[in-house]
Amino acid sequence: MQGLEVPNSVLSAWNLGGSTVSPLGSGLINHTALVTSGADRYVLQQLNPVFPPEINEDIRVVTAHLRARGLVAPELLPTVDGRLWVEIEGRVYRLMTHLDGVSRNRLNSPGEAREAGGLLARFHRALADLDYAFPHRRLGVHDTGRHMAVLRQALLDHPSHRDFAAIAPLAGEILHLAAALPTLPAVPERVVHGDPKINNLLFATETGRALCFIDLDTLGPMALPLELGDAFRSWCNPAGEDHRQSAFALDLFTPAVSGYAEVATGWITPEESGAIVAGTLTIYVELAARFCADALRESYFGWDPQRFPTRSAHNQARAANQLTAARSLWDLRGAAEEVVRRAFGAG
Ligand SMILES: Nc1ncnc2c1ncn2[C@@H]1O[C@H](COP(=O)(O)OP(=O)(O)O)[C@@H](O)[C@H]1O
Ligand SMILES: [Mg+2]
Repeated sequence: MQGLEVPNSVLSAWNLGGSTVSPLGSGLINHTALVTSGADRYVLQQLNPVFPPEINEDIRVVTAHLRARGLVAPELLPTVDGRLWVEIEGRVYRLMTHLDGVSRNRLNSPGEAREAGGLLARFHRALADLDYAFPHRRLGVHDTGRHMAVLRQALLDHPSHRDFAAIAPLAGEILHLAAALPTLPAVPERVVHGDPKINNLLFATETGRALCFIDLDTLGPMALPLELGDAFRSWCNPAGEDHRQSAFALDLFTPAVSGYAEVATGWITPEESGAIVAGTLTIYVELAARFCADALRESYFGWDPQRFPTRSAHNQARAANQLTAARSLWDLRGAAEEVVRRAFGAG
């Protein structure tokens, strides 16, 4: 939480007045703090205004379902008067259980990749029988055509951006690769995490095993190849999101896919598994387009002023990173397709 200035009325809503509050994690979207009261630990988050606070109702339903299926999931803790969140001085806060795990910004080993894949498959399978309409979900998150149109429009709208000469060629390359992307098959939607990137996964502190997914503001129905594409584009890009250089790591993709397949075989359809590489390429290009458009529009909501001079500079680096990783996977796509075929037992 920035400056850790949590009004007392926030803590007292949960009867936690006088607790110790310290920063937690490196998330850039919500502000997250560890609240310690005696031996008890909680996670307090100030919700980013892009999310409607009612999203917490969806999170409560999904996490209860996950726990009923034997998975670990953070539990939203109601206030003393039974609310899932409080709004104080225009800011929305929620409190949840603290889980004994660490989040990483990169996978350290093939073993971790396999663990992550297995956990994601358990997460998906556990939610397969959830009958819930997700009234608060955000729509059109992965409308790739729309993201490309936004990028084209940003080029037209911001010709005098101070970095236009650097950003325009980057945009051209992204649009060029977008035009070459394979078409994704029409598949039914599944209930998914929506943002399964590496630092939204906790590894158990004691055992190092994948413990659970956190950061559940994006839950909802979506095509599985896009969800898996979003996971693999992050897990298999060990450079992280913030460097200009990156590469697709087949040595992480292979165990991640096989960890997923071990659990998901018998549930995932051949159309879905057959579109994993296409989905991963799509998400790279889509993210590159979004970061690039934001670099021109100066509109991104999360950035790191400690490491970049401007919001635009951070987003240019992010766009270049996703584009380089996309190209790297493009060059390796034959081998990546073979990894998928082997893992799912088709060849
Ligand atoms: N329930 C939890 N238990 C333990 N650590 C957590 C929990 N929730 C969040 N964290 C830590 O806080 C960080 C930021 O939380 P996250 O929900 O991912 O916020 P953001 O939307 O900003 O990414 C996580 O990467 C993790 O390190
Ligand atoms: Mg996060």
